Amino acid sequence: MSDPFEVFLMAPPGFETVLADEVREKGFADPKTVPGGVTMQGDWPDVWRANLQLRGAGRVLARFAEFRTMHLAQLDKRSRKLDWASILRKDVPVRVEATCRKSRIYHAKAAQQRVERAITEELGAPLASDAALTVRVRIEDDMCTLSLDTSGEPLHKRGHKAAVGKAPMRESMAAMFLRQCGYTGTEPVLDPMCGSGTFVIEAAEIAAGLYPGRTRRFAFEDLANFDRVAWDAMKAGNTLVQPANRFYGSDRDAGAIQSCIANADRAGVAEWTEFTHAAVSDLQRPEGPPGLVIVNPPYGTRIGNKKLLYAIYGAFGQTMKERFSGWRVGMITTEAGLAKTTGLPFTSGPPIPHGGLKVRLFQTPRLR
Ligand SMILES: C[S@@+](CC[C@H](N)C(=O)[O-])C[C@H]1O[C@@H](n2cnc3c(N)ncnc32)[C@H](O)[C@@H]1O
Repeated sequence: MSDPFEVFLMAPPGFETVLADEVREKGFADPKTVPGGVTMQGDWPDVWRANLQLRGAGRVLARFAEFRTMHLAQLDKRSRKLDWASILRKDVPVRVEATCRKSRIYHAKAAQQRVERAITEELGAPLASDAALTVRVRIEDDMCTLSLDTSGEPLHKRGHKAAVGKAPMRESMAAMFLRQCGYTGTEPVLDPMCGSGTFVIEAAEIAAGLYPGRTRRFAFEDLANFDRVAWDAMKAGNTLVQPANRFYGSDRDAGAIQSCIANADRAGVAEWTEFTHAAVSDLQRPEGPPGLVIVNPPYGTRIGNKKLLYAIYGAFGQTMKERFSGWRVGMITTEAGLAKTTGLPFTSGPPIPHGGLKVRLFQTPRLR
């Protein structure tokens, strides 16, 4: 196959080291954290596997070329010399995006046009503004890096969630929060305000060892170097583990529970999940060993008002203290004041941007 090249794994800001942990754990070579993600050296099968198996990455970019460029004529010449046919197909539309920073070439649109021309005139592939395949051109300090977005749709779209609630958590973020809580798939997980069921389904998939990308399509499937037989073999290597625990979700919104049931079914985890229509104050402790409660209650300006919010957090804290001894709690919210209202012994993590706000993970040790 090809020589190794740099692969960039996008992470939500603040999750770089958590993603690097996952990358290492899944057997990729020597990941390095950089702002906004993780880099590693890899080949095309590594790119496919990263898309298929990594839960925390937002996208996988293959950095297939890098050269110095001082002016547009040089960019034009160097772009034309690239072996486009080894990567792109003549019959698959592509779009080009460019950014310039601290460089002699400062006109991003002009840079984009040079690369577009190289692709259309040297290879003959069509351009389309809505193409699923994107070539990214980044010129920084006069260094031009060309990358292919090999994911297409962002990776948090696992491909089996039809129904979403009011303020759903992205699956990639949910997976990273679960990891930050020390969840490895070997304990029960419960989300008492589960919305569309993201945490519960993600936790069940992790326990069952299911690859997050098992049912979706990726942009790399349209590249010239794609090998369908090798890809199918890679996907077939996903052996299911029978989870030893159950995964519970509840919400006071009956519609949300309907969505959860449908989503869990589509994800193939219905057998291990239980969804109940209940307010957090009526929540009962499940039978069996204690595990992890993970929740992102309503917060901030997104839904609800402050007074109601304090009541919800108070009720949540009360239920945990009364009925969940031995369980750990991970709660994602915007304000330390709201976390404090629960009366739970929380320590807080770093701020993470989410939906235009900054959220934090508040964690407890096992409750007494
Ligand atoms: C921010 S959303 C959770 C989103 C969820 N993590 C997801 O990914 O879809 C908050 C949820 O809390 C639920 N909720 C609010 N107050 C509640 C209460 N007192 N008891 C149970 N659920 C409640 C809402 O119905 C809503 O679905």
